[in-house]
Amino acid sequence: MNDSLRGRAAPEAIPHNPYARMRMNAIEIIAKKRDGQTLTREEINDFVQGFVRGDVPDYQVAAWLMAVFLRGMSYQETADLTLAIVNSGDRLDLSGIAPFVVDKHSSGGVGDKTTLVVAPIVAACGLPVAKMSGRALGFTGGTLDKLESIRGFRADLTTEEFLAQVREHGIVVSGQSKDLAPADGKLYALRDVTATVDSIPLIAASIMSKKIASGANGIVLDVKVGRGAFMETEERALELAQTMVRIGRSLGRRVTAVLSDMNQPLGLAVGNAVEVREAIDTLNGRGPADFLQHCLTIAGQMVLLAGRAKDEHEARELLLHQLHSGAGLAKFKEMVAAQGGDTAYVDDPDRLPKARIVEPLPAPQSGYIAAIDARQVGLTAALLGAGRQKKGDPVDYAVGIVLAHKVGDYVKSGEPLLTIHANAADKLRQAQLRLREAIRFSDAPPQPYPLIHRILRDTDVA
Ligand code: URA
Repeated sequence: MNDSLRGRAAPEAIPHNPYARMRMNAIEIIAKKRDGQTLTREEINDFVQGFVRGDVPDYQVAAWLMAVFLRGMSYQETADLTLAIVNSGDRLDLSGIAPFVVDKHSSGGVGDKTTLVVAPIVAACGLPVAKMSGRALGFTGGTLDKLESIRGFRADLTTEEFLAQVREHGIVVSGQSKDLAPADGKLYALRDVTATVDSIPLIAASIMSKKIASGANGIVLDVKVGRGAFMETEERALELAQTMVRIGRSLGRRVTAVLSDMNQPLGLAVGNAVEVREAIDTLNGRGPADFLQHCLTIAGQMVLLAGRAKDEHEARELLLHQLHSGAGLAKFKEMVAAQGGDTAYVDDPDRLPKARIVEPLPAPQSGYIAAIDARQVGLTAALLGAGRQKKGDPVDYAVGIVLAHKVGDYVKSGEPLLTIHANAADKLRQAQLRLREAIRFSDAPPQPYPLIHRILRDTDVA
């Protein structure tokens, strides 16, 4: 089968240099970045392809990642890194499948199960969603880990399977494969264990490479801001958003970035199976209000990018109809079935993996909840086993944290603040200590956090 039949596009041309492989010296490239110099497109491409081939070992890439983390990258270097990652695999052209395909991506948050609701409700509007997702990274969760808590669910589709599924079902959520942005999978896993995650160029290249490789025409970027985000301030979140929007636009994509709050966890559940359950509840019309509003905003921007609604109000009505009619839930089940998952888990979420210990954490005092430190909650979920401590660790699907309250709620002393789902008594104890520290109280009602800080369209970016 030739490439065009497969829906693959030719890789973006990197000027061919017959000496590139001979000339590439990983140590020089690391030293150059360590010293704050600018890398050329060829150097970046050689280094990334060398890593994927296995010629550049993990320890050299780890050193380079730290140099990038500390020294940063120019916009041009970031765009070149994005293309180098794209060029490590196939680049899909979905134009033969549908005139406009949409995608979304989050920069990483705590309790961020947005894709599990947004992808099916958008696809239920008849708008194909082709999404390449990631795994847990640092204190943030990963969509693929969450979905894999459904027995049998496959997040490692081949390029052919990915394409066939968008064509047949109009919805696919899969991971980087050996075919699609494989360099991102390898870099992502190394960043996770080398404290090099929260870097604007590395996040921008990681996200945009997946978005460009998987071929969608319209991309909504959910850029998280706050304690539970890689970007703690609105200023840094805006810089990340602008970088990604520029990269997408320069490659012919329509891109909108939504800066959304991540000071406290999104919704109530943080973990894997507990988040899948909350997403299914939301698709059944019983989700937490903040999470539902967030999903409607992200999904609404996807519908608007595709021109399926004339304004935000119309987009919202269309999406609410998919929720209330059950069409969104049906689409989620269709996706689970297409990817080998057991749909009985969707019909009856009690089948999802359960932790041996489920223990409430009582409020130590009465008062208003002034803060729930999302980063601490995410780190605690990872410590319980929901994330990875080191590369390749398995995740425990059953463990996590389910909040009973959100910032602004009044609680009485002794009332449960949250429940901890654990599989080991020592981890439960550590989690209790951390979570007590993560929650602050006040006598007066606190200022509520905005759910959405701002929306940036490609026309707003210079
Ligand atoms: N999501 C990604 O895909 N990559 C990152 O680096 C962070 C969030």
